[in-house]
Amino acid sequence: MASNDQIDLFSIADVATATAVDPSLIPTSAKVPIPVGTYSSMAEIKVHCNQCHRCELGATRTHAVIGRGHANASIMLVGEGPGQTEDETGLPFVGKSGQLLDKIMASVGLTEADVFICNIVKCRPPENRNPSIAEADACMGYLLEQIRLVDPKIILLTGAIAMRSLLGIKQGITKVRGEWVEKEGRLYMPIFHPAYLLRNQSREKGSPKWLMWQDIQSVKEKLDEIQN
Ligand code: URA
Repeated sequence: MASNDQIDLFSIADVATATAVDPSLIPTSAKVPIPVGTYSSMAEIKVHCNQCHRCELGATRTHAVIGRGHANASIMLVGEGPGQTEDETGLPFVGKSGQLLDKIMASVGLTEADVFICNIVKCRPPENRNPSIAEADACMGYLLEQIRLVDPKIILLTGAIAMRSLLGIKQGITKVRGEWVEKEGRLYMPIFHPAYLLRNQSREKGSPKWLMWQDIQSVKEKLDEIQN
């Protein structure tokens, strides 16, 4: 992504306000809730997350990874947590999975103007392990604030962890992917995680890649329907 694109998300005015946020508001324990309405911009969330120690992931991060894409996108895509490249750059889905994700979105004409991309946990789990339920819970307040600020119509959940954390669905992703779930006025769809597609290269009918192609087309159709 060109560095200028970040202006969308963290405008210069936003960053100036965010650095003025009262440091005593920065939660240091997962037991302290993050009230709805705490943040007025992604830049404020970024400042807090980079100082956050609500869970142990804060001890090993290089950068908290907040999001990329359009700050008022119609579609939000939620992954699991940052990997190494994301931890180094502070941007979500910029490694191999992210490159595939961008291609999948581009295949139906979706760009960063249509999508805001973020994760369940903002800091990298060591060795790229899955985030624990406690870590996902500790970080949930930030994600709920991101959803409130972006106000997307559609939320795509990549992989079982995102699906479980936001919808409470414990079934395997293979069973539920591609189905629309309505919750609190938004449409959610669980989809495969791009890392899973990288491990399953077949494009045959019924393969994970083929199923993802069906799902992303449904997403585009739904978006067109909502917008027209
Ligand atoms: N995988 C994720 O779930 N999120 C990222 O940001 C990168 C890889």
